[in-house]
Amino acid sequence: MMTTTMKEGLEPAVELMNNVLRQATTVVDEFPLVFRSGFSGQVVSLGTSENVQSVCAILMREAICNDTTLPMGLIGSVTTDSDHRRSGLATNVLIAAEARLAEQGAIISMLWADDPRFYFARGYRPVGSENDFIIDADMIESLPIIENIRLANADDHEAIHGHYCRHASRLNRTVEETSALLDCPGMTTLVHEDGDHVLAYACMGRGEDLDGTVHEWGGDLNSVLGLVRLHAESRDTTVPTFLIAPRNETELAQRLTLMGSPPVTGLLGLAKIVNREAAANLLDELVGDTAKVTFFPDGSEFEQVQVEAAGGTEFLNDDTLLVLLFSGKGERAETEAFGDHFGINVDRLPLEPFVWGLDSI
Ligand SMILES: CC(C)(COP(=O)(O)OP(=O)(O)OC[C@H]1O[C@@H](n2cnc3c(N)ncnc32)[C@H](O)[C@@H]1OP(=O)(O)O)[C@@H](O)C(=O)NCCC(=O)NCCS
Repeated sequence: MMTTTMKEGLEPAVELMNNVLRQATTVVDEFPLVFRSGFSGQVVSLGTSENVQSVCAILMREAICNDTTLPMGLIGSVTTDSDHRRSGLATNVLIAAEARLAEQGAIISMLWADDPRFYFARGYRPVGSENDFIIDADMIESLPIIENIRLANADDHEAIHGHYCRHASRLNRTVEETSALLDCPGMTTLVHEDGDHVLAYACMGRGEDLDGTVHEWGGDLNSVLGLVRLHAESRDTTVPTFLIAPRNETELAQRLTLMGSPPVTGLLGLAKIVNREAAANLLDELVGDTAKVTFFPDGSEFEQVQVEAAGGTEFLNDDTLLVLLFSGKGERAETEAFGDHFGINVDRLPLEPFVWGLDSI
């Protein structure tokens, strides 16, 4: 099994994050792609190297959305030392993080927050969607019972990665990255095997955020549902278990709806455009010949992205660009209304990025 060490010089930043955000675990184990050497994530901090005052984690990723690849940067663990709050430090850490992600090719930055107000005020908007399913005690009885389920071990990581890579919406990961993520604390990964073959896997729990939630799974659908049953049965069944899925995993949604658990639509996350020119170019590509989207580098913030189509010419601000590319709640209606208004073909819109539970930072 691969052994990894922590990146050099990060101890003060890790100490601040652990003190504020984590009690039982450490961010180093929970987010190996940021803190472990050999992986690409980084830490952005303000203060001195000995006395870090404000900090966040960043990780450059590529989101596969069917036939489109979207470069996006993840931001997590935004933290300011309690003695230095309300002086604009986290605001500046965020600005620095977004700039670094843009340098690395990101079009948007994405993050998750329990209280989104701080991020709304800094340009973040809800984007995309996910399906959330509630597996309560009655529902468990409807899920299939399957045999030959066991805990995953390191020898399964390659097969698990193979199943992950078959999802239409996912973040690009190497097998080494999947393997490191599968070792996260507080997570149970079950596999269903047939002889030497892993037919399916399902991960439940991860750190403090995804407790009681099956947040990543893949492989044969019936097997996945059997794994979900065992995960749910392993908990106090008076408390529901949650299952998260991309909205384009329609077969899963149909099966669970028939069993009595229709999906509840949740938001994917909060996002901000960090490279307006690249966002304009992406939109131009996605609308094909039906419109021309132009970026004017010398324009003001609100006069940089122009769309010209049969229905007229207009400048798009970042909020509209985000809605067009991703839609606020993952619903097509907003995007289609815009397409009708301008006479633009929006068949390839909105994009449907999805971030599986193992990827969050
Ligand atoms: C949330 C958190 C990161 C904010 O850090 P911070 O450094 O205090 O953030 P800022 O100073 O940039 O902004 C916070 C507030 O201070 C105010 N502020 C900013 N600069 C200021 C200044 N120079 N003088 C006075 N107030 C100021 C802002 O109005 C802002 O409030 P707003 O959101 O209503 O605009 C910090 O409170 C924290 O670590 N919380 C615990 C961990 C957490 O919840 N993290 C989020 C995980 S995703």
